[in-house]
Amino acid sequence: MIREELQQIIFNAIGKEFKLSKEEIFLEHPENSDHGDYSTNVALILAKQLGKPPREVAEEIRSHILNTKYKILDTSIEKVEVAGPGFINFFFKKEFFLGELRQMVEQKEKYGSGKSKEKIIIEYSSPNIAKSFGIGHLRSTIIGQAIYNLYTFLGYKCIGINYPGDWGTPHGKILYQLYGKKLKGKTAKEQKKILNGLTIENLEKLYVDFHTELALNPAMEEGARAWFKKLEQNNAEARAIWEATRKISLREFERIYDLLNVKIDYTIGESFFSAKGEISPSRGGEDKMGQIVKEFKEKKLARESEGALIVPFPNDELPPAMLLKTDGVTTYFTRDLANMKYRMKRWKPSTIVIETGVEQTLHFKQVFLAARLAEIVDNEKLVHIAHGLYRSKEGKFSTRKGQTIHLEEVLSEAIERARTIIEESETTRGLSDKEKTEVARSVGIGGVKYNDLSQHPAGDIVFDWEKILNLKGNSGPYLQYTYARCKSIARKAGNSKFQIPNSKLQFSKEELDILRLAYRFPEVVKEAAEKFSPNVVATFVFEVAQAYNNFYNTHRVLQAEDKATKQSRLLLTAATAQIIKNSLSLLGIVAPERM
Ligand code: ARG
Repeated sequence: MIREELQQIIFNAIGKEFKLSKEEIFLEHPENSDHGDYSTNVALILAKQLGKPPREVAEEIRSHILNTKYKILDTSIEKVEVAGPGFINFFFKKEFFLGELRQMVEQKEKYGSGKSKEKIIIEYSSPNIAKSFGIGHLRSTIIGQAIYNLYTFLGYKCIGINYPGDWGTPHGKILYQLYGKKLKGKTAKEQKKILNGLTIENLEKLYVDFHTELALNPAMEEGARAWFKKLEQNNAEARAIWEATRKISLREFERIYDLLNVKIDYTIGESFFSAKGEISPSRGGEDKMGQIVKEFKEKKLARESEGALIVPFPNDELPPAMLLKTDGVTTYFTRDLANMKYRMKRWKPSTIVIETGVEQTLHFKQVFLAARLAEIVDNEKLVHIAHGLYRSKEGKFSTRKGQTIHLEEVLSEAIERARTIIEESETTRGLSDKEKTEVARSVGIGGVKYNDLSQHPAGDIVFDWEKILNLKGNSGPYLQYTYARCKSIARKAGNSKFQIPNSKLQFSKEELDILRLAYRFPEVVKEAAEKFSPNVVATFVFEVAQAYNNFYNTHRVLQAEDKATKQSRLLLTAATAQIIKNSLSLLGIVAPERM
């Protein structure tokens, strides 16, 4: 990609003494096009190191570049200028932009893709069973899927894992409640029937009630503990009840994934690492957490503390983490270590990424450090992407019915609202009811996803319907609409094959604005992946759409002045559509042909 080529020739010009690596050579796109397409400040930095005037250094770099036989000097670079206190600005030839344009319409959905062969694990979604799918898990699902898409696009072998919370003390509470309130004294057959009839709401209510009732009856705590212990010891009754709650939950999660168009490669939850990880019987029967406990003891990384087994960290860098509680049951931390070990052994990835809420930051610091201390991982990169909260404009986030958030309700509302917009739109007039339903789904869900992904994961997100579905603002529907507009123009032109315009053709400022943006797609994707920030793609595609709409409002495409201009504008329209579609697809958003 052109950015990397520029970094290379600058790097060659400044020589090895310079302390920056090639990748660190800073190149920016100047706000003002009078300053070129890329600008670098390396001469200013280098001048400081050398004790020379920056402009002089900049001139030297410039001459070195111009006096070397680089192919891109012929094909792509119009001129190189030294400006201001010592910036070096690069200006591209029109041929370069046209060449990129050609690639966009020829390579289509492959434009900007990469060939990395590395293996990366991306864990996302990971809701908790016996609880409804929360809005926080929606964030993890959307962001994680986008990261997965970005890396897949760059050629990585991605392993997407859903790690549902299906083990641990909360499940003891649910078992306690289910047994005490619904199953006690019933025959096995009756019990089975009762369990089959349960919904997630029932389970959630039992869990909530547990905490209300606990205030009056503190002994319940002990009861719940005992049930979890039974579960860990593989007691058949505990196991059967737990199994049922898990099934009910996973079925419901599946529905949500379908609605969201999310596909995850593996579902391997916390229970897999329990004494009998029987989810996959072929691998079952080994006590993965027991092995972790043993390993940490043997390596002298764990010690007893007030009856529990803890892992202290060197120099108290982090607070100690607990491997076994006083009653000998395992913890979330224990399971995550077993999890790390399993993933390393099974897939040997070069990177493991885990997407969760920001409140788990300390937990993952502890897990990652402990895994390194125990040499479960070596040089592999471990990344925790932490997302912020959802908020509403009014402060508290609630749905139309005014209750606490129920994800499915939010998504249905989004689709319903999108449907209204679509009914009012002209371009959908020819669509059947079924097609409109499909478009409403893409627009509603797309709006919710884009609202999330257009902001940095770490920040909090405001949930505001006006903004989410605003056809005129920075929203999913705005981008989808721009895409549909481009497609409609192409249809009207008969979807003809385009010729790459002659480089003598004059471009208007508005056309150049699109050209000067669109070619950045490959570097944008790379940056978004490297920073684990899908919002980089969102910001970019919004700019492209704005540039196109600005052009469209100033110039005619189908009724252009002459044939050559029309051809070139149709090409520009097709390329814009492709860039929007590719960007949205990375964000997991469908781009309907009409809306
Ligand atoms: N189920 C957990 C929760 O909802 C998230 C799991 C995160 N991943 C992990 N490897 N611990 O809080």
